[in-house]
Amino acid sequence: MKISFASLVLPETGAIAVPVAKGRKLLASAAALDKATGGALKRAMSASRFKGESDQLLEVLAPPKVKNSRVVLLGVGEPKELTPLDFEKLGGNLLAHLNGVGETQGALAMDGMGGGKADGAKDEAAGQAAHAALGALLRAYRFDRYRTKEKPERKPSLKALAVLTAEPAAAKRRYGSLEKIAGGVFLTRDLVSEPANVIYPKSFVTQAKSLEKLGVKVTALGVAQMKKLGMGALLGVGQGSERESQLLVLDWQGAPRAKAKAPFAVVGKGVTFDTGGISIKPAGGMEDMKWDMGGAGVVAGLMRALAGRKAKANVIGICGLVENMPSGTAQRPGDIVTSMSGQTIEVLNTDAEGRLVLADALWYVQEKYKPRAIVDLATLTGAIIVALGHEHAGLFANDDTLSEQLTAAGKAVDEPVWRMPLGKDYDKLIDSESADMKNIGNRSAGSITAAQFIQRFIKDGTPWAHLDIAGVTWSSKDKATVPKGGTAFGVRLLDRLIAEHYEG
Ligand code: BES
Ligand code: MN
Ligand code: ZN
Repeated sequence: MKISFASLVLPETGAIAVPVAKGRKLLASAAALDKATGGALKRAMSASRFKGESDQLLEVLAPPKVKNSRVVLLGVGEPKELTPLDFEKLGGNLLAHLNGVGETQGALAMDGMGGGKADGAKDEAAGQAAHAALGALLRAYRFDRYRTKEKPERKPSLKALAVLTAEPAAAKRRYGSLEKIAGGVFLTRDLVSEPANVIYPKSFVTQAKSLEKLGVKVTALGVAQMKKLGMGALLGVGQGSERESQLLVLDWQGAPRAKAKAPFAVVGKGVTFDTGGISIKPAGGMEDMKWDMGGAGVVAGLMRALAGRKAKANVIGICGLVENMPSGTAQRPGDIVTSMSGQTIEVLNTDAEGRLVLADALWYVQEKYKPRAIVDLATLTGAIIVALGHEHAGLFANDDTLSEQLTAAGKAVDEPVWRMPLGKDYDKLIDSESADMKNIGNRSAGSITAAQFIQRFIKDGTPWAHLDIAGVTWSSKDKATVPKGGTAFGVRLLDRLIAEHYEG
């Protein structure tokens, strides 16, 4: 599907979508079309429940006196109140609708929604059009690589969408960098959707090598190098697998003149398949554990977004890549491993493996890069789904500023996070009788004890946040700009955080 920008001249063929405000108020393009069709739009509205509320949609097929296939009225509610996110949702919903009805060619007229002052109005118009286009692009994503027999009528029909705006050139420029962010989102969605026979530690590294052409430095440590570094926690998880564990390092130096300044670090859990190991999971739903590398997938997608839009920031991305399998060489419940930090861990449950991987990945990034702040992402606990469902990611932080910045960035891009507590009394729950700590607590506060475990590998004074994305990495239902499947939750959030606080 091709997205383009053009000035506000209504095309004579294909579908035309026009915004309509609350109270059935026709904005400029809608009013012009109503006139051209002899009042067909107003008649259609009065024959329906369409009131122009946001998310309402009314379609007029084969409208009289014009050659267009259809006119789609898009309810926008109160135009002055619309945010960039609302425009993304508008574009996403329209895209899904046109694909659903079999349309091949569409135009979206973005007019009459300026609420701003005269000198900001041009910018505002461009931003609205660019975000509507981004929404359509994000919704158009499909993972269909393995469908060889899909019937044509089941395939998306829309070939081209033109966004009509008073500022097509400026909109196109704005869209240019948004499109790069979408490129990062798509890389993450692809990685997360691929099955575990295709994406395993080394093939993940191979995929990440594609970022080199954007200027990202890509290196990976194998088992021998990690052994030398003493990464007993990460290596213990991977030791039951035929697939060699990897520690992937992605380095984006977008602010080379600020080289003295420490980088921002992002660390992802990359368990390419989580059987649970010897503490094996039940069969039902185990296939979901192909996306237990979602945190690492976000790291890769984020680096692609940053490099794509040439972000003026220095960012290190680390992915701890392992496959958690039961076998004759797998680690056993009760094994005690020594992490790179020197701290020992009693592995009471081999299914609590993500924290073991993060322990060494986090220690490594601190030792080697002394980052100014760290965010880790992990599909870490089922308990976070019990607590927050699929609506928020869990946020844990040792720093209020970082926590507030993440919360605000999440709201701005519709990847919301909810802060959870940390504290000494939770930390006690993972003290062990025979080692420095154990990798599980008791049954209560499962997401918090997991976060406490990770915090034991964060050096004092380093601002750190942990995002438990187990509930938001995969979606079972379509949303306006996120089709069901891998969501890439975290890419836009961290891109936004970096743009607002770590660039320039
Ligand atoms: N990858 C899982 C967490 C998970 C569960 C992610 C469901 C997405 C959906 C993690 O490795 C795990 O198995 N966690 C255990 C921890 C327990 C053994 C302390 C869990 O949440 O049950
Ligand atoms: Mn597990
Ligand atoms: Zn896991």
